[in-house]
Amino acid sequence: MSTQIQIIPSTAPVGAEVRGVDASANVDDATFDAIKDALHKYKAIVLRKQKLTPDQQLAFCGRFGTLDPHVLPQYLVPGYTQLVRISNVLDDAGQPIGMIDAGRVWHSDGQFQAKPNMYSMLYALEVPHDAAGQPLGATQFVSTAYAYAQLPQATRQRIEGLKAVNSLAAVYATLKRNNVASLRAPLTEEQKREVVHPLVRTHPVTGEKCLYVSRAATMRILGLAQDESDALIGELADWCLREGSIFTHQWQVGDLLMWDNCASQHFAIGDYALPQRRLMNRTTVGGTVPF
Ligand code: SIN
Repeated sequence: MSTQIQIIPSTAPVGAEVRGVDASANVDDATFDAIKDALHKYKAIVLRKQKLTPDQQLAFCGRFGTLDPHVLPQYLVPGYTQLVRISNVLDDAGQPIGMIDAGRVWHSDGQFQAKPNMYSMLYALEVPHDAAGQPLGATQFVSTAYAYAQLPQATRQRIEGLKAVNSLAAVYATLKRNNVASLRAPLTEEQKREVVHPLVRTHPVTGEKCLYVSRAATMRILGLAQDESDALIGELADWCLREGSIFTHQWQVGDLLMWDNCASQHFAIGDYALPQRRLMNRTTVGGTVPF
């Protein structure tokens, strides 16, 4: 018999809280399927008040698919290849123990990979607060399926069949342009590799069409002059973020936030600094070649 879960959608076109799940326990198949359906429907879902060891996070998240090793191995949780730390906390040598600037641009995880990440799961161990006790370091989401569905017909026709070049080097360049204080190691030649993906991709499970473009990772649209390409990338990126589209997740310790990288983009708000500490462990599930 499955556990009774409750789904509370946000007021935005993306995001929901799923109640009634203990991800550290042996979640039965029917309940798990309901959680996965909610993830596909709402694109970003949170399970609150979870108490997860690294192994329990890996076990639960691993049910969504094969977990990817992280592209920047220096930030892995010691002893784990598939669990990356996102944190502004420093070690005894003054070095960050995790990625300090993760997500400071609107993006979809792994867009610069031939097979981008399908889902990401972020588990909150420490959440920064302001002096009044309000949480800082929120994560925002938009639905790229909603963005595509709402596009004017003429724009849909204009972008039909277009492909774009994406790269992690472009993400780094954007972080630098935005003055995000990155302490990341320089990229290897392999990490700098450019990949071509469709500008509109089809969700492999739901069949929904999703805009697949971001100012950070998308360098140019094939077949267009660079200025035309820049203008179209900007227009589509802005369309995804237009008023009323954004869901803001305010973190609590114990949140397990999961998102669908095909059908959403996210942005981490960097409005905190030490001694306000943020520590989260992230897992990512592998995806397929976008089509
Ligand atoms: C990310 O982009 O994966 C990080 C999101 C966050 O830290 O809120």
